[in-house]
Amino acid sequence: MVNHRQITKAIIPAAGLGSRFLPVTKAVPKEMLPILDKPMLQFVIEEVIEAGIEEIILVVSPGKESISSYFRDNTELEKHLSSTDGHKLIELVKNIPTGDQVSYVVQEEPLGLGHAVLTAHAAIGDNPFAIVLPDDIITNTPGALRQMIDIYNAYGSGVIAVEAVPWESVDKYGVISGNRISDNLHQIESLVEKPAMDQAPSNLCIVGRYILPHTIFNDLRNTKTGAKNEIQLTDALSLALNTERILAYEFEGVRYDGGTPFGLLRASLEFGLARNDMKQDIIQLLGSLLSASSNSAT
Ligand code: UTP
Repeated sequence: MVNHRQITKAIIPAAGLGSRFLPVTKAVPKEMLPILDKPMLQFVIEEVIEAGIEEIILVVSPGKESISSYFRDNTELEKHLSSTDGHKLIELVKNIPTGDQVSYVVQEEPLGLGHAVLTAHAAIGDNPFAIVLPDDIITNTPGALRQMIDIYNAYGSGVIAVEAVPWESVDKYGVISGNRISDNLHQIESLVEKPAMDQAPSNLCIVGRYILPHTIFNDLRNTKTGAKNEIQLTDALSLALNTERILAYEFEGVRYDGGTPFGLLRASLEFGLARNDMKQDIIQLLGSLLSASSNSAT
């Protein structure tokens, strides 16, 4: 193992508009939408803590107070639960990581993921760091970020999580072209944002986990406004490839796309099927929905 600066800080950008979830995102940040009873944001916070990250920097927009209030103690609620029959529920509230580990920076305008990351520069300083997107939920033990930190520790280079997606979906993602180093690791040669299927160099698509050197901030500053009039992180990564080695890692785990209502529905169903208190009800529901739809088709 090579000795490198440890990854102790992670940026979680949560300042986007969440337009695919309108109208609910008029009032509720996308990152606070739940899979069953837990906000997406908490899933990624748990993954980040499991990976050994000590400092979490949440990038929020000016109107997202519900995010910071989620991480504050709520003594009134705890008092109420302990005086009623909610003793078990207290644990759920108390298990939310709070306080010292989480800090906030405000992105005044939603000028893109790249811009959100740049907003957190002062909090990161000259350290390599992680970026974790709260709308990509990945289940596995060890978590995807832990796996990536192990790769970083072994190779000392930036690491981006990639997933082989069906070819007909490549036009929704940033796609890498690279040289295979081992079964699940590639050295990235170039990146293409949302290519047409017949132009895509591979079906290995970038998903929301990154470990990057601090020099990416310079690349972000040199990145011009791109698609959707936003500063795109993928464009800055293309610049970074001129000077840095960046690896693409096919993580172990299942990814759920929490950026769309259907992705969140799929995650809710699958997570519910894994819970003893819901499994039977969900199977029954799915069974009756299936027979209702096949009856209406005949
Ligand atoms: P998305 O690309 O999914 O954008 O952002 P979005 O605004 O959240 O959603 P849509 O496309 O309008 O439906 C990926 C992550 O980057 C954050 C988002 O909060 C999300 O966690 N982000 C995006 C920012 O923090 N700031 C931005 O300006 C854009």
